[in-house]
Amino acid sequence: MNNPSVLAFAASLRAGSWNKKLLAVAAPQLQALGVEVDVFDLFAANIPVFNDDVLQKEIPSGVADLKARIHKASAVLIVTPEYNYGIPGVLKNVIDWASRPPPTNPFKGKLTAHMGATPGSAGTFQAQLQVRQILSVGVAAWVLPGLAFGMSHADQAFDASGALIDEAAKKNLSSFLGRFAEELKAW
Ligand SMILES: Cc1cc2nc3c(=O)[nH]c(=O)nc-3n(C[C@H](O)[C@H](O)[C@H](O)COP(=O)(O)O)c2cc1C
Repeated sequence: MNNPSVLAFAASLRAGSWNKKLLAVAAPQLQALGVEVDVFDLFAANIPVFNDDVLQKEIPSGVADLKARIHKASAVLIVTPEYNYGIPGVLKNVIDWASRPPPTNPFKGKLTAHMGATPGSAGTFQAQLQVRQILSVGVAAWVLPGLAFGMSHADQAFDASGALIDEAAKKNLSSFLGRFAEELKAW
């Protein structure tokens, strides 16, 4: 039997993104738990702002690539910043694109998990609640039950090489990824 696989992306376009750093730490941990990880680069995908007129003509190549890779994967992991107590527009935009037209929605019935990092002190939890609602109600995905992983003070949590040095965050991340990998293997 093949290993389960995860399509993962950080919902930030910023080169120095904390959420990209968090994903870079999480991916090898998932691999060590027997999960293959395919990291999708949202910046490189250059996905335009959603416009139904564009969709009627052709699906942008970055969207088509993302959809194919989600279809291929056993699960999706979204690592999102919080903007103004909600998800960033770039994340809503990419989910909206992927979800249309509805018969091709790759999230439907797919196991998903979400987490996030912020230099602030509230762990991105408002954004996590929103992404959970959009995934489960909006695009009919299964969302990993229980508390998501949210990292506060991300600007102090990594060393210069990108290694996670915050002990509490390390422990909570391992526990979250362990739950995700367990669920994936039983899926
Ligand atoms: C428009 C905007 C709104 C923001 N609102 C929040 C917020 O509500 N909560 C929070 O924790 N951080 C907020 N931040 C700070 C982000 O957490 C910070 O910019 C973070 O570095 C973004 O994630 P990234 O490093 O992965 O790009 C906001 C930043 C921007 C640009």
